[in-house]
Amino acid sequence: MTSPETESLYLQPGRNLALELVRATEAAAIRAVPYIGRGDKLAADGAAVDAMRAFLGTVNFDGVVVIGEGEKDEAPMLFNGERVGNGRGPACDIAVDPIDGTSLTAAGRQNALSVIAVSDRGSMLDASSVFYMDKIVTGPEGVGVVDIRQPVAENIRALAKAKGVSVADITVAVLDRPRHEGLIEEIRQAGAGTRLMLDGDVAGGINAARYETRIDMCIGVGGSPEGIVTACAVKALGGLIQGRLYPQTDEERQRGIDAGLKMDYVYEANELVNSDNTFFVATGVTDGGLVAGVRRLGPIIRTESVVLRSKSGTIRRVIADHQAEKWLS
Ligand code: FBP
Repeated sequence: MTSPETESLYLQPGRNLALELVRATEAAAIRAVPYIGRGDKLAADGAAVDAMRAFLGTVNFDGVVVIGEGEKDEAPMLFNGERVGNGRGPACDIAVDPIDGTSLTAAGRQNALSVIAVSDRGSMLDASSVFYMDKIVTGPEGVGVVDIRQPVAENIRALAKAKGVSVADITVAVLDRPRHEGLIEEIRQAGAGTRLMLDGDVAGGINAARYETRIDMCIGVGGSPEGIVTACAVKALGGLIQGRLYPQTDEERQRGIDAGLKMDYVYEANELVNSDNTFFVATGVTDGGLVAGVRRLGPIIRTESVVLRSKSGTIRRVIADHQAEKWLS
C-alpha cells in the first residue's frame, strides 16, 4: 500500500513538463553547434532561440516569458511577455536562456548551456529592468548559516564549519571580471580557493548547490535573469540563494524602482521565485562540469541534460541520441 505522500508525488500535475521542456533545450543546443568556435555569438544565440521557440510551441503548457531575450522591439522571439506553449496545459511563468555562455560558444570554450526554467504563473520576479544582480549560492549546508550581508570571510568560515571541513578545503566560484578584484582577494585572504569563471554563472551556481562538485559557493555580480533561473534550480536542489539588485546608473536604479523592484534589498529564494513548483532543464552546448556538450558520434548526435523538479526534488540526467540526418536541414 502506498502512503498518501507517495500517492501525491505520483499524482501531482505537471510532472512530465520538465521532460517535455528538455526537448527544447536539446534542440537549441544542437542548433548552436555549427556556431561553436566561429566567433559569432549573435548567430549562435539566434540559432538556439529559433530552435527553442519552435519546440516550445509543441509543449502542453500556457507559458508567459518573464525572462527572455529582452523587450519585444529588440528581440523578435522569446521576448519578455511573449506567450509560448500550445496553450493547453498549466499556466506558467518561463525563463529562457537559449545559450548561457554565448561568448563561450563563439570562442569554442567550455561550460555553455541551453537553459529553461518554469514555475507557476505569477511567481517569477521580473527583474529585467536592472541588468545585474549580486548573488550568493551554496548547497543545503549554507541555509541559515551563510548570508550575503555578512563579509565573505565570515561566510566562508561558517560554510566550512557547517560542512565539517577546513577553510582551505572551500572553493568559491566567481566570474572573472575587474569588478570582482577585491572580492577575489578577500576570498584568498580568508584562506579559501577561487574558481574563476570566464562566463556562465548559472552553471557556477548550480555546481555550488549540488553535491559531488568541487565548488562550495558561487558569489558575485552577474546577470539578474541568470539569478532567477538559478533560483529555480536551487529550489530543486535544496540549497541557498540570495540576490541583491546591482544597478549601474541612477537611471537604471530609478527604472527598477518604477518597475516595483526593491533596491539595497536582499531577495531570498522565495522572493526570486515564489513557488515550490519549479522546473529547471539544461542541455550542454559545449562540455562542462555540469553536463557534456553536444557530440557527433557517426550517425548520432548525443546530448546530455539535467532535469530538476522542486516538488519531488528529483534530479535526472538525460542522455539522448538523436538521428543526425533528421537535423541536417
Ligand atoms: P550570455 O551568454 O547571455 O551573454 O551570459 C553570460 C554571462 O556570463 C552570464 O552567465 C552572467 O550572469 C553574465 O553573462 C555576466 O555578465 P557580464 O559578462 O556583463 O559580466
